[in-house]
Amino acid sequence: MKPSAVKLLVAALLIVVVLTGCAPAATPAPAAAPAAPAAATTAKTYKDMTLCYPQLGAESDWRTANSASFKETAEKLGVKLIFSDAQQKQENQISAMRSCIQQGVDVIALPPVVETGWDAVLQEAKDAGIPVIVVDRSVTADPSMYASHIGSDMVIEGKRAAEEFNKMLPNGGNILELSGTTGSGAAVGRAKGFREALNPNIKILDSQTGNFTRAEGKPVMEAFLKKYAGQIQGVFFHNDDMAIGAVEAIKAAGIKPGELKMVSVDGTRGGFQLMIDGWLQADVECNPLLGPQVMDLALKLMNGETIVKEALTDESVFYPDNAKELLPTRKY
Ligand code: AHR
Repeated sequence: MKPSAVKLLVAALLIVVVLTGCAPAATPAPAAAPAAPAAATTAKTYKDMTLCYPQLGAESDWRTANSASFKETAEKLGVKLIFSDAQQKQENQISAMRSCIQQGVDVIALPPVVETGWDAVLQEAKDAGIPVIVVDRSVTADPSMYASHIGSDMVIEGKRAAEEFNKMLPNGGNILELSGTTGSGAAVGRAKGFREALNPNIKILDSQTGNFTRAEGKPVMEAFLKKYAGQIQGVFFHNDDMAIGAVEAIKAAGIKPGELKMVSVDGTRGGFQLMIDGWLQADVECNPLLGPQVMDLALKLMNGETIVKEALTDESVFYPDNAKELLPTRKY
């Protein structure tokens, strides 16, 4: 065969291959692996939460209601609650917090018995990556040391009490103060607000602590009545439990309801009963039912959400005129 004929034959064969698709199969490109499902970022729920609540004590009906609010809310939502009772001792609260830090809880909610002395343990919680929500009373630590403070405005409560005395004693007079636990945010704030708003013609003859308890309120009032017999027109109580204890001493001294003008703080059932019986002329509200709000904030923290730095409870003042009607509706 002539070379020209060979060329023609090769060309003809190539055309056949192209037209019939008889060329060797090209290696198929590997099929793309199915995309892995995107890692789902599932939001944490209450059932994932372990919340530490180193309660400061059981000194008052307010405190009992506050503890119940945390226990009942945790039970309802499925939150694991690590609850302890520090019996009004800061060192017990600090040990309870340290134990919670060791256990690696998600959030600590701290109701501080006093305002100062929290820096070291707050730093330990921060180092462990555990956020702290300060509950009820305040702390003096720098706000960067805790996530949020939720509770009452104690200064406003003191001011509200003072306004009641200003109305009841327009011509002035002498009064006494049974104050709460020394150094507590509640006692410091109420005393401050009270003094800021009290008319200058009303004089606070004396102020002593009854540690927020009935047991201590009574002897303080007994001593007051001996020392200031016939010199006083009113008494300001930093809480209802001290008022209840003090009223026992006042009754024993032969004083009748209404002879002394008296204002308290809390709005517990016991305080309502004192208003119904004519002993208290006003009871400034302090709401202990903080469990739901604290757990809501704790969950937000667990999910990396930003929360408010300070959440102050909206409160008012209760009076005797409708105390009887409201008493059955009171939750604490
Ligand atoms: O910190 C809140 C105060 O503590 C309440 O007024 C009092 O009753 C409680 O003991």
